[in-house]
Amino acid sequence: MCQHPGRTSVSLISFQGVSKSYPIYQRPSDRLKELLFLNRRRFHEDFWALRDISFEINRGETFCIVGENGSGKSTLLQIVAGILAPTTGTAQVSGRVSALLELGSGFNPEFSGKDNVYLNAAILGFNRTAVDRIYRQIEEFAEIGDFIHQPVKTYSSGMVVRLAFAVAIHVEPEILIVDEALAVGDIYFRQRCLRKVHEMRNRGVTILFVSHSAGDVKALGDRTMWLDHGRIRALGETDKVVAQYLAAMVEKDSAYLELKAPAPDGGGPQVEAPEVVTTIPNIDHRYGDERAEILGIAVMDRYGQRLPLLRPGEVCVVRISVRAREPIGMPNVGFMLRNHLGVDFAGTNTRREGFELPPMRAGDVYTVDFHLMIPELYPSEFSFSPAIADGTLVSYHMCDWIDNAVTLQMGHSDNPIYGYIHLPCKVELNGRLAATATQEQAEARLA
Ligand SMILES: Nc1ncnc2c1ncn2[C@@H]1O[C@H](COP(=O)(O)OP(=O)(O)OP(=O)(O)O)[C@@H](O)[C@H]1O
Ligand SMILES: [Mg+2]
Repeated sequence: MCQHPGRTSVSLISFQGVSKSYPIYQRPSDRLKELLFLNRRRFHEDFWALRDISFEINRGETFCIVGENGSGKSTLLQIVAGILAPTTGTAQVSGRVSALLELGSGFNPEFSGKDNVYLNAAILGFNRTAVDRIYRQIEEFAEIGDFIHQPVKTYSSGMVVRLAFAVAIHVEPEILIVDEALAVGDIYFRQRCLRKVHEMRNRGVTILFVSHSAGDVKALGDRTMWLDHGRIRALGETDKVVAQYLAAMVEKDSAYLELKAPAPDGGGPQVEAPEVVTTIPNIDHRYGDERAEILGIAVMDRYGQRLPLLRPGEVCVVRISVRAREPIGMPNVGFMLRNHLGVDFAGTNTRREGFELPPMRAGDVYTVDFHLMIPELYPSEFSFSPAIADGTLVSYHMCDWIDNAVTLQMGHSDNPIYGYIHLPCKVELNGRLAATATQEQAEARLA
């Protein structure tokens, strides 16, 4: 991103060899003993949550961090936010930081939402008049109604996040830190927050974003860091790092299923062992209850090569990889094919094809291949929108739906297409009439 061309090379955040250890005590009394010995004897082990972390983040960059639970993401963000200090190494941060850290932090539970807004803004250097100016916007964005006057301890976790996010984005930060917090909000609030984060990104705000949603990271991240047991495992272009991370996760703990329906033409070589696809080329819109997520979609030929073009009359394979975040009792994976006008043209799913996917456990990844015979369609653009739902064909919950994830051009057929589709058709000449005619002609000639 380059919103401020002259300033983009300035690094706002710089970590040089940062490590962070937490003291681990075997017994609670060990902590007391250490105090009594005035720290002259150690009664703890060091647990290194971060080890030798060096990186720079430039102004205006959106920097994402992925990693398993406990890999050190929140610890790193807390160091950027100034809440924790590194044990060794240096961390330099310049600019006003507004942090949306893991749940609950930053608010005093005994105070009302409104008082907390004033308190938080004051900590960031806003005086009363300045907060008065932004308070209305914060209240409107949070949409928690009269709860704003109640103590924060009476809020649901979703309400805390709503208010915290509303504050974080309205205090005009130069650096915005978002730690996984959005996962708690409902889908509409989440979408609204993500739009806001996009907006701030476009305004040149530097953003540090931690999320377990590969889709969000891909949609936002200029660069991404993968933390693994407190160390940098990869750092670079978002798509590459996320793909590496997901692939490693799949290798690690996933039940993995291959669905191979016979190709419509029955013969020819089949796609070899399917690989998990982790790219989502485009996300126009996404919704669902997020109990499962689409990891990627690819449209390939029968040899597993990605197709640049749909070829009428040929077999193509639509591969969709999904991951369950929570148990999914009746998973159903499918897609919708839309035409250039955005009209739903044709679609299918595993259940519709009579293929019942086994229930998914949290963490399971399924890769499903749909083998299709492409009919002769008018040559225009077609998009694939993948989805995973839980339930039957008539009663289901949508877990994840992505609008127009892949768009491909339909290639020209050898012959013209009249209308939208050339229906597969066989022509017959009425043999009996033809034979009679020939016989009559022969008889006439003989006469
Ligand atoms: N105050 C603490 N005392 C001791 N250990 C801690 C403390 N805070 C974090 N840790 C440990 O440090 C490691 C990194 O924790 P951190 O919260 O940074 O992970 P994370 O990547 O944010 O994980 P998650 O995805 O679950 O949010 C974990 O092993 C955690 O148990
Ligand atoms: Mg965390």
